[in-house]
Amino acid sequence: MHVSTRRNPTAQPTEMVARRASNGEGALPARIPPPALHKVPDTGLARTPPMGWNSWNKFAGRIDDATVRAIANAMASNGMREAGYVYINIDDTWEAGRDARGNIQTNKKFPDMKALADYVHKKGLKLGIYSSPGPNTCAGYEGSYGHEEQDAKTYAAWGIDYLKYDWCGARTIYTDEEMPAIYQKMGDALRATGRPIVYSLCQYGRLNVWKWGADVGGNLWRTTGDIRDAWDSMSRIGFGQSDLAEWAKPGHWNDPDMLEIGNGGMSETEYKTHMSLWAMLAAPLLAGNDLRSMSPATLEILTNREVIAADQDKEGKQGKRVWKSSDQEIWTRQLSGGAVAVAVFNRAAESAQVSVRWPDLGITGKPKLRDLWLHQSVESQGAEHPVTVPGHGVVMLRATR
Ligand code: GLA
Repeated sequence: MHVSTRRNPTAQPTEMVARRASNGEGALPARIPPPALHKVPDTGLARTPPMGWNSWNKFAGRIDDATVRAIANAMASNGMREAGYVYINIDDTWEAGRDARGNIQTNKKFPDMKALADYVHKKGLKLGIYSSPGPNTCAGYEGSYGHEEQDAKTYAAWGIDYLKYDWCGARTIYTDEEMPAIYQKMGDALRATGRPIVYSLCQYGRLNVWKWGADVGGNLWRTTGDIRDAWDSMSRIGFGQSDLAEWAKPGHWNDPDMLEIGNGGMSETEYKTHMSLWAMLAAPLLAGNDLRSMSPATLEILTNREVIAADQDKEGKQGKRVWKSSDQEIWTRQLSGGAVAVAVFNRAAESAQVSVRWPDLGITGKPKLRDLWLHQSVESQGAEHPVTVPGHGVVMLRATR
């Protein structure tokens, strides 16, 4: 039985678990004890935060082979690929049951996953897929429970390059404390295939995943519940990440969820804030809109190379809030070569004047400034540099000596 895939308005993971078909297989499967934890080698993947696209935010259950191909075509021809976007990630709802040997099957929306991966690879892009450590996924489809190695081998045989592994269905069997072992199990299985597969943990930040995500082989881990295409959701998540900065590093990233840019629920100004904030956070940049039909303004936000360069800075140091006064905040992020990304955010609805005091940001002397949205140099106005920030907007600067 496949249940519907409505988005959950409460920003919690869509929970439709423990609903086995009503045809007699209703009981939960027997519990498989979690494996012992061990030391996991670094796979060397995701040296910078992954960039790409994911189907869930826009399409949820309405994603299929033809749409994925069309999205890949768009990404390969609209400048996104050249700007660094590479992963095309199929989220939940591709799965069918298993064959007699236990091999995971695709449902009729995805008639041939290997052919789809070949197609995406020919476009110079990579293909991602989704599963759960539980018997079911969040949307009620087949999970990997008891088939971890087999599924990892299947993904590798198909040519999959990225796995998002979503907890939901596992909570009927395991406790939160068992998460590290359960995530390590799939991480081991992926590594054993010998294929480089980026490993994305999705358990909504439970059990302080940032403290152990890297140890179990994760390249990124969700830090929150699901984002929605609305200012309150995006800003609550984004501005809530400052304390996690120390856990991000090359190969291992905090993931505040996928982008909503271009989905229509926020203004252009708010989407610029979304993009800037995610870049300050060294967050994965996974577009979540319909790349086949976006406006030039949306494309411009998603492909702002100067903001992307900050996100992808090779030192991988996540930025944090260094100043706050009512609804205005200044965040800084150390970049390689001694540069600093400075984002002045205005969370109020009306525009605001903010005085940026360089000494307070640890920037000595008179910095050279580049405005990353206006794409021009700016003259620093001395120790107190005034900026005007639109309501829900941002001024993002790159400061160098
Ligand atoms: C959870 C995840 C979402 C998405 C859905 C799919 O809610 O957090 O990102 O993958 O499941 O069912």
